[in-house]
Amino acid sequence: MLTRTFVVIAFLACNSNAESLQPSPTSQNSQDLQVITLDSQGNPAMRVYYSYDQLLTLPTVTLKTERDLNTNTPATYTGIYFSDLFAAFGHDASFEVIGANCIGGYKQYYDRDYVTRHRPILLLKFDDKPPADWPKSEQGNVLGPYCVVHESFSPTETIYGYVEEPRNAPRVTSLELTSFNQSLGHFAAKESANDPEVVKGQKIVIGSCISCHNAGKAGGHTADASLRLLGAKAATSKEIFRKKVIDPRSTSPFSRMPPHPTFDDDTFNALEAYLKAMMVIQ
Ligand code: HEC
Repeated sequence: MLTRTFVVIAFLACNSNAESLQPSPTSQNSQDLQVITLDSQGNPAMRVYYSYDQLLTLPTVTLKTERDLNTNTPATYTGIYFSDLFAAFGHDASFEVIGANCIGGYKQYYDRDYVTRHRPILLLKFDDKPPADWPKSEQGNVLGPYCVVHESFSPTETIYGYVEEPRNAPRVTSLELTSFNQSLGHFAAKESANDPEVVKGQKIVIGSCISCHNAGKAGGHTADASLRLLGAKAATSKEIFRKKVIDPRSTSPFSRMPPHPTFDDDTFNALEAYLKAMMVIQ
């Protein structure tokens, strides 16, 4: 089984001269980072922009990773720990989760628990270079304008055939400041929420599926199919559903979905129990 562990081999520098950020109400430059604050209904309430140079005034770290997951090469990262982003954006602590919106509808959520366990980094420099000079991913995609990476990643959660994966996010165009309810809370089961299998399935789906599949306003939109639709597929054509998830290209040759070869019967039983509990009409 693939364990995604890579090691920090040097801690080179640490800049902690934070200055207070001056957001702009309009975008001045295509490299500006858009930061959207969501209201209690999950709708954008405010949009501001921070220049790349301003972000560099926040506390940054520079460190080496043995293997950058985008390029599959060693790299030197300079960036901002999400714990410092929470501090920089959240003087009033009015949000609990930072979402990263990526080109193509891909989305990742960083709650404080994940941030504490895995220390994700908003990448500002790759091998000391600004985003315009970053290498392309192994698949030939650009990595910027921003990117979320990890100095090292050791899974802290294993459930049957599911092993926690790093919440990497290439091609980040905006960050979203939101509540738990308007982000990961959308993935709460509608019934049997305390059933241990449903709880396991929920963790598997949050870890593996919601970066591309949505539940209402939350989650990614890389795929058109919502979790509700996935639940319907799982209920009506279980074998095809499982085949699709294990090896997406076996059912559609040009699938853009990642394979999940380690998912076994127990993994699917939990996942399907959760999807069923998720589909109940509110
Ligand atoms: C990186 C994005 C991505 C992730 C992560 C992802 N999917 Fe998908 N999924 C897609 C895309 C894109 C499609 C649309 C067809 C295609 O490209 O295969 C899809 C289609 C599907 C379908 C077929 C839907 C249909 O309309 O027939 C199923 C079932 C499915 N996904 C289940 C899952 C499950 C379960 C997970 C988590 C274990 C998951 N996907 C994770 C991108 C993703």
